[in-house]
Amino acid sequence: MHDVQETEAENIFDTWDIYQKIVSANNMFHLEIYADVAAILQTLEGGFSVLDLGCGDAVNLASVLMPLPVGHYCGVDLSKTALALADQNLKGLACPIEWRCGDLLQELHTLDKKYDVIFTSFALHHLNYAEKCEFFQAAHAHLNAGGFLLMIDVVREEHEDLPGYLAAYCGWLRDDWQGIDGREKAIACQHIMENDFPETLLTLQAFSVQAGFTACRTISRYQWHNVLRFDAASGA
Ligand SMILES: C[S@@+](CC[C@H](N)C(=O)[O-])C[C@H]1O[C@@H](n2cnc3c(N)ncnc32)[C@H](O)[C@@H]1O
Repeated sequence: MHDVQETEAENIFDTWDIYQKIVSANNMFHLEIYADVAAILQTLEGGFSVLDLGCGDAVNLASVLMPLPVGHYCGVDLSKTALALADQNLKGLACPIEWRCGDLLQELHTLDKKYDVIFTSFALHHLNYAEKCEFFQAAHAHLNAGGFLLMIDVVREEHEDLPGYLAAYCGWLRDDWQGIDGREKAIACQHIMENDFPETLLTLQAFSVQAGFTACRTISRYQWHNVLRFDAASGA
């Protein structure tokens, strides 16, 4: 087992290179997941707006959005490093682009626009239970009629409590993840143990119903990694 300084683990998204290696080796199923995202977004009419919460470097969403008729994109993230990379990765997108550096929930509350798609990928599990509940309310309030929340995130099995989930996920990571060394795996595990609070699908569904979403669909699922779609009413 490798010892990791707390600051190293906390800064996993500030240095970005370890996360980039994890994604490049497809350890979190980004290839399959973003093919599913592309299939959904390709069905939308021209000029649709996208709010990307916890956008990171946005590299995967950038390649999905590039050929599509996006009308407006807004990316939100806590990490300035990630936002600088995202700015480069979205250079080719021919629509107004807005960046906001800050907490996704606080930024969501201060935004005065509504969007056709609210997208969030592997960020929501960083919020606690009450914040996730509040997130669904705020997301619903910021969707245009007929819009939807497209959420990619880790989801606990119904029978898994948080310690059980964290032990199972980190065990899988240590045994199966490719493209990162033992020290980097230890940093990833420490980050997960200290910062990840995924909910079960039933909890996410309950939050969405309370917030006024009319449908919750599981688009796809790769181990704990889910693509979920929550629809706002067409006349909302
Ligand atoms: C695992 S990365 C995901 C990046 C990208 N969306 C993807 O799917 O590859 C999580 C991102 O969420 C950001 N993040 C975590 N908590 C956040 C919060 N409360 N508000 C805004 N961004 C947050 C991190 O800085 C990081 O860029």
